[in-house]
Order: sequence, then C-alpha cells, then structure tokens
Amino acid sequence: MTQAPPVGPPPCARVAIPARALVVLCGPSGSGKSTFAAKHFSPDEIVSSDACREMVCGDPSDQSVTPQAFFLAHTVLRLRMGAGKLAVMDSTAVEPFARRQLVAMARLFGAPAVAVVFTVSGEECVARQAGRGTRRVPEEVVLRQARALEESLPRLSREGFHAVFMLGPWEAANAEVARIGR
Ligand code: CTP
Ligand code: MG
Repeated sequence: MTQAPPVGPPPCARVAIPARALVVLCGPSGSGKSTFAAKHFSPDEIVSSDACREMVCGDPSDQSVTPQAFFLAHTVLRLRMGAGKLAVMDSTAVEPFARRQLVAMARLFGAPAVAVVFTVSGEECVARQAGRGTRRVPEEVVLRQARALEESLPRLSREGFHAVFMLGPWEAANAEVARIGR
C-alpha cells in the first residue's frame, strides 16, 4: 500500500539552528530522533526523556516513571536555557500538549523554539524497531504516535515555533545542520 504524502511544510535539506535555541525533536519511536541528535549535537545539549527514565529507575523504557522523567527533563531544559545554552529535547513530542509546554518554556526564557520533525511512516518506524535489539516499543504504540504526528502536521507552523523543519528519511540522514547567529 502506498502512503499519501504528509500534509504540512515540505521537507528541507538544511536545518538552521539559532543560538540558544530549544530544539524540539518530534517523531514516533523509531523515526531516528536519537540517531539524528547524536550526529549533530553534543551530549550535554541533548536532553532525552528515555535517558531521564533511566536516571529515575534504571530502565529507559519504563513508562510508569513518565511524570518523573519529564519533570527531570524539563528541569534540565530550564537550567540550560537559564544558562543561555542550546538544548535539544529528545522525546516523541507527537502530541500537541507536549510541544505546547516546550514552546511556552522557551518563550519564558526568550529563546527560539525550533521543531525538527521526522516524517517517517509508522510502518517504517516499526520495521526499524526490529533492528534495534533492546527497547522495542509495541507496534500499536508506534502506529498511534505516527497518527498523532500526522494529525498535527497541518497546524505545526501555527504552534509558536520560530521555525519548523520537516525531515523525511533522506533528509534525516543527509540534511546539513547549520548553527546560525552565534
Ligand atoms: N535508523 C535507521 N535509519 C535512520 C535513522 C535510524 O535505520 N536514518 C535506525 C537506528 O539505527 C535505530 C532505529 O532506526 O535502530 C531507531 O532509531 P532511533 O534514533 O533510536 O529512533 P528514535 O526516534 O530515537 O526512537 P525512540 O523514540 O524509541 O527513542
Ligand atoms: Mg530515541
């Protein structure tokens, strides 16, 4: 079955990241967020909800500590922004409320919030999980995340982000990431 192209801004091959930005990665589990983050950002810049889960309870996939993990992640983001540093939130952020919190936080600190959106199909995300070994997210969860993101796409550009960058599978692997306005 061929998938309809996503509705929303077109994919782009150059991601421009302003200084002191709060970079919000958005994509279903398996869409390549952490792979992209590790390639383009330093470890201190990346705040990962899964890493926070692990810090709280030793298991990066334990969903029962989600509130604590996000409390920790948001605290670190606030501290980074308070220090005038760039931060990358590595979580699915496929639901509007998750993005809204981050946009509001960035605004509070006068920092630009930038969305980097991974438009990989739910089926492809499921297939990639198979190659991951540990920490496989159930198929129905991944497909639900993909649907939530797809529903968000038409209005993403009106959510208060300074910029929204859409990355298909090719762009996620090949896009240039440029730091601007240092
Ligand atoms: N991967 C891939 N091609 C890419 C990017 C990632 O095949 N262009 C693979 C990775 O090697 C990994 C899997 O896809 O095995 C998922 O990538 P990951 O970066 O872990 O995805 P996340 O979006 O971070 O998933 P999660 O939300 O579950 O952390
Ligand atoms: Mg990840």
